[in-house]
Amino acid sequence: MTKVTMTINGKEVSGDVEGRTLLSSFLREDLRMTGTHIGCDTSQCGACTVHVNGKTVKSCTMFAAEAEGAQVSTIEGQANADGSLNVIQQAFQDHHGLQCGFCTPGMVMTTAALLKINPKPSEQEVREHLEGNICRCTGYHNIVKAILAASGQDVSTIAAE
Ligand code: FES
Ligand code: FES
Repeated sequence: MTKVTMTINGKEVSGDVEGRTLLSSFLREDLRMTGTHIGCDTSQCGACTVHVNGKTVKSCTMFAAEAEGAQVSTIEGQANADGSLNVIQQAFQDHHGLQCGFCTPGMVMTTAALLKINPKPSEQEVREHLEGNICRCTGYHNIVKAILAASGQDVSTIAAE
């Protein structure tokens, strides 16, 4: 076992991990931070997306030990300080950007990364940025609409589906 220490959502945490322990497993099983979902464990679905040192990472593709000393952000750290939904989460709720919700934590983390580098993305740019996140329920239309709304763009002419 190896001791690993990282900062998650602004709080320093430590744990003992095996070399093979994935970051996703460390978050969910060791820290009980189950907002990060595991849909495939094979790097395809994006449900496990977090940010590591400001970069979007599928946490099932990285060993926990590799995050030694890193700044990690997860869905648990996305709400506003008063506990209310942040602008992205609120837009997903307002525009029905989820059904079962399984993909949603990853979608929110991916969206946060997109809006940081591209605060007013086009619909095409949103769709391209979601390439690594699979949703089996929504058909993506309302997710894209929610993301455009979260970026402050007028979505009133986009029909709900
Ligand atoms: S669980 Fe990591 S990409 Fe699917
Ligand atoms: S809302 Fe069910 S997988 Fe996306």
